[in-house]
Amino acid sequence: MSTFKDKIKEASKSLRSNVVLALDLMDHDPANLYEKCAGTLESVTPYICALKLNRPLVLRLCLQERIKNLVKLAHDHGLATIMDAKLNDVAHTNLAIALQYFDAGFDAIIASPFVGWEGGLDSLFLEASHRDKGVILLVHMSHKGATEGYGQTVIDPVTGEGRPQFMIFAEKAVAWGADGAVIGATHIEQIAAARKVLHGKVPIYSPGVIAQGGSPVEAVKAGADYLIVGRAIYDSPDPAASARSIRDQVSSALTT
Ligand code: XMP
Repeated sequence: MSTFKDKIKEASKSLRSNVVLALDLMDHDPANLYEKCAGTLESVTPYICALKLNRPLVLRLCLQERIKNLVKLAHDHGLATIMDAKLNDVAHTNLAIALQYFDAGFDAIIASPFVGWEGGLDSLFLEASHRDKGVILLVHMSHKGATEGYGQTVIDPVTGEGRPQFMIFAEKAVAWGADGAVIGATHIEQIAAARKVLHGKVPIYSPGVIAQGGSPVEAVKAGADYLIVGRAIYDSPDPAASARSIRDQVSSALTT
């Protein structure tokens, strides 16, 4: 069985895309919502490498039925799957949540490093590695207020010096063997700074392009390995054309 990191790398290579679709559609009727999600996913599969699902969709669609089907649909098209659970609890609760997503077929899960290792994310990392599943850490979120936490200057307990929180999280991502680090495309300087620590070890996943104001091209030039894109694709009148255009902009920027 291949690891999550290998799986998404292979999908990205064979599908020639580094776009992760954030399928955050909503509808009050679960059956309609499922059809919308499946239809959008099917139309954009040639232009993406992975599917990321969010908690509102899981709450509306039910993990055991329609969400499982969406995960299977993505796998049938050779895509990797990520659950954006933003785990942020004590170890046994994080693990209990993650196991349900892993059992539903997800290849990776997003977690917050603020809870720390011991009694926080330790059991999750251990179990994920036993199952060849991935853990992606939030290193610097995309929204403006993210600077209040991820961007704050903290005293490094080892050196006693003041350092940005997100750089300490980037180092923890390497030390803990994370499979990815989320850094918002709205924070280009932070992508470039964290890349110095992460490059070649932990791939950078960058949300916040277009709808939140970030540029896909600038994000990959700064060091993002994968782009997480939601509204710019699923809210477009032609999701497939939008996904293709983002993929093409990024690949031509990388080759010039
Ligand atoms: P849009 O529509 O803005 O959707 O392209 C972005 C998707 O990514 C999620 N998101 C984040 N996820 N860290 C994350 O783990 C972040 O900093 C972050 N910012 C946005 C968002 O929930 C949506 O699914």
